[in-house]
Parts: sequence; C-alpha cells; structure tokens
Amino acid sequence: MILVTGGAGFIGSNFVLDWLAQADEKVINLDALTYAGNLENLAAVDGDSRHVFIKGDIGDFDLVAKLLAEHQPRAIVNFAAESHVDRWLNQECRNNCRRQWHS
Ligand SMILES: NC(=O)c1ccc[n+]([C@@H]2O[C@H](COP(=O)([O-])OP(=O)(O)OC[C@H]3O[C@@H](n4cnc5c(N)ncnc54)[C@H](O)[C@@H]3O)[C@@H](O)[C@H]2O)c1
Repeated sequence: MILVTGGAGFIGSNFVLDWLAQADEKVINLDALTYAGNLENLAAVDGDSRHVFIKGDIGDFDLVAKLLAEHQPRAIVNFAAESHVDRWLNQECRNNCRRQWHS
C-alpha cells in the first residue's frame, strides 16, 4: 500500500490512475480538494476497492498520523501543492505544515 497526497490534482490523479493500471497495490489518496482538486479526475477508479480517497489537509498532523498508523504505507508520494506561485505567495506559505512536522 502507498499513500498519495494531492491525488485529485492534475499530476496526482494521473499518477493514481497509472499506478492502479499497472500494479495491484492499494492507494490511499489524501487530498484537500482545493479549487485544483477534482474527483472527476478519478472517475475511472470509482468503486475500485484498491483506491481509498480521504478528504483532508496534509497539514493536519493528527489525520496524517492516524493514516500512517492505520495503513502503514510502504511509501508516500506527495503531489499536494499550490502549483501557482502567485497564489502560494499570497498564502501563508503553508508554514503550518512545516511547523507541525518539525515539532
Ligand atoms: N502540472 C505540471 O505540469 C507539473 C510539472 C512538474 C511538476 N509539477 C509538480 O507536481 C505537483 C502537483 O502539480 P499539479 O499540477 O498536479 O497541481 P494541482 O494544483 O493540479 O493539484 C494539487 C492537488 O493538491 C491538493 N492539495 C493542495 N494543497 C493541499 C493540502 N494542503 N493538503 C492536501 N491536498 C492539497 C489539491 O486539492 C489538488 O488536488 C506540484 O508540486 C507541481 O509543482 C507539476
């Protein structure tokens, strides 16, 4: 099992679809479904038991810790990001996430 973050976005959803087309290994897909995330990108795996979608923020320490303990993924592939630089600069740079992982 692997954990993919941002798996409802452009690159992440294509990764998930490609992964499930090639490997019989479960994917836990954690995505906050921001303006950029779209579950329709994942329509092809709707109902596929190998794909578990969880709506949530990678900055949510408790949620991520729970997912890691529960599923024990062998790898994490991160695509969760603000890929528009201007939008990222106008946010608080998501320091919340960095602060939590370093504490
Ligand atoms: N699109 C490209 O051509 C391209 C090329 C090379 C690298 N990349 C990189 O790949 C990554 C993904 O790019 P993309 O184009 O798929 O972006 P995207 O904006 O399409 O998707 C990002 C996804 O991350 C989710 N997300 C954002 N913040 C989150 C958070 N805090 N917690 C959980 N989910 C969150 C969004 O809901 C969305 O589904 C970025 O790091 C980008 O720089 C993209």
